[in-house]
Amino acid sequence: MVYEIREFGTLQNNDLQRIIMAYKIPLFQLNFDEAEEKAVVEILRSKWISMGPQSQALEEKFAKMLGSNHAAAMANCTAALHLALLALDVKEGDEVLCPSLSFAATVNCIKYVGATPRFCDVESLEKPTISIDQIKANFSEKTKAIIVMHYAGHPCNMDAIMRFANEKNIPVIEDACHAPLSEWNGKKLGTIGAIGCYSFFSNKNISTGEGGMLITDDAKIYEKVKLLRSHGMTTMSFERSKGHATAYDIVELGYNYRLDDIRASIGLVQLEKLPSDLAKRKFVREWYLKELENMSSIVVPFANNTDFSSNYVFTINLVDSDYEKRDALRNFMHENGIQTSVHYPAIHRFSIYQNLPADLPITEYVCDNTLTLPMYGNLSKEEVSFICDTLKKGIQHVFG
Ligand SMILES: Cc1ncc(COP(=O)(O)O)c(C=O)c1O
Repeated sequence: MVYEIREFGTLQNNDLQRIIMAYKIPLFQLNFDEAEEKAVVEILRSKWISMGPQSQALEEKFAKMLGSNHAAAMANCTAALHLALLALDVKEGDEVLCPSLSFAATVNCIKYVGATPRFCDVESLEKPTISIDQIKANFSEKTKAIIVMHYAGHPCNMDAIMRFANEKNIPVIEDACHAPLSEWNGKKLGTIGAIGCYSFFSNKNISTGEGGMLITDDAKIYEKVKLLRSHGMTTMSFERSKGHATAYDIVELGYNYRLDDIRASIGLVQLEKLPSDLAKRKFVREWYLKELENMSSIVVPFANNTDFSSNYVFTINLVDSDYEKRDALRNFMHENGIQTSVHYPAIHRFSIYQNLPADLPITEYVCDNTLTLPMYGNLSKEEVSFICDTLKKGIQHVFG
């Protein structure tokens, strides 16, 4: 058996458990207890396990917590991003402005609809989110949408981005995978543009294994997305099972992007826990910031962000460094029992995107010199101290 795990690469069977156990401090810990188990057992016993009342309850709770008119549960965030572009009628010949500093799904979805990604650089090491100057520079009459990604749970420059997008009448899709309940100027991230997309992948703030959500205030977008989520069918099997409808029509070419009720039941528990988990993460971030202040060898992105953040991950950017030194530091951390990651390898450097124009010096520097440290609600102050002491020793070891 071979496992594909984003943080681990390809592993053989028992290696997975051994490696997870080998880290004194993992990158992430699932915030699961008996509540998730109980919820799943109840749904299994209810005998309705595909999309149904649990998914609907999750949508309603999510929309309420985010302050959005509509929420549509999805199989994952990649599906949400795909349907977001379809709902906005983005198609072949169109261009979509996007960051390269993100997970590949942020950009793959543009290719799904036959459009072309136009990569924009990020602002700086301090603010590695899409740059408004780059958005302006890459805008053309072909631009049909802008995708922004709220890196690590911190907001993009939404003031300037929304002003420009509104001026040009171009919709903004917020990839808010990192940012459930994060805010910008008192507004929840994901509710500022036309559509917000979220992931419930295992290592996200809300974990259901696989899963996602699309939110919008626009009723037309919501109706279209609901149709496309389930084969373009006019009724759902849950409605038919209740005798509310006996027939259906297929009115558009849709997909099966539904979430099932087993995962939705986990999502409901996770959503209930989210505010207290984020409150704990806030402390973890403060401990990190205190331990790492005045270090000239690193920049802590968003160190001055005062908006509420989900603190999905905690990253640092090395100064006067290169990827070999970063990787040596990463190895040092691993040898000392601390799991780290890299958010992210630049998308424009992947083979399938190499033919596209990309002049992205800041993105390339960040991708080569960033390191993600462990972040989860149950991380203790002592563990954060241990991580930061090890990091300082590692920097001394690698940079001299
Ligand atoms: C920024 C970003 N966008 C999109 C995705 C895709 O989400 P999913 O795995 O739910 O399809 C992820 C998840 O890893 C992500 O981190």
